[in-house]
Amino acid sequence: PPTADEMREIIAAHQGLEGPLLPILHAMQDTFGYVPEDAVALIADALNQTRAEIHGTISFYHDFRRAPAGRHVLKICRAEACQAMGGAQLAAATLGKLGVDWHGTNANGAVTVEPVYCLGMCACAPAAMMDDRVAARLDEAGMGELLAEAGA
Ligand code: FES
Repeated sequence: PPTADEMREIIAAHQGLEGPLLPILHAMQDTFGYVPEDAVALIADALNQTRAEIHGTISFYHDFRRAPAGRHVLKICRAEACQAMGGAQLAAATLGKLGVDWHGTNANGAVTVEPVYCLGMCACAPAAMMDDRVAARLDEAGMGELLAEAGA
């Protein structure tokens, strides 16, 4: 895990900015792949804000991870066209199969599931994306193949 010194270095590099919190959080995530829990107190001290305020910002922006991601990231589309084509059921079945909630990582660390709002594949809904690869017209069997390939 990241050391306090590594985190302090990132904070120091952005502290002088106007509105430094988001740049600090983004830099943490870019560097470590997530925003470590230990960083919250350090950021709060440095910016003279409460821990609750820092936590509030982290959870408001769903892009910030609280823990390292799995080896693969599966993004399932939750926007309208996909919902109309069974996307919600597919998502529920997938989350159930992996035993996770949104943003969760399955037990063997293979896959983290994130929601996404339109992948530009509305005509071929429902759609999802495994890492950089978009998969369209997905059903449970197709999703099962994606998960198997990812080692989930
Ligand atoms: Fe899912 Fe556009 S709504 S790809």
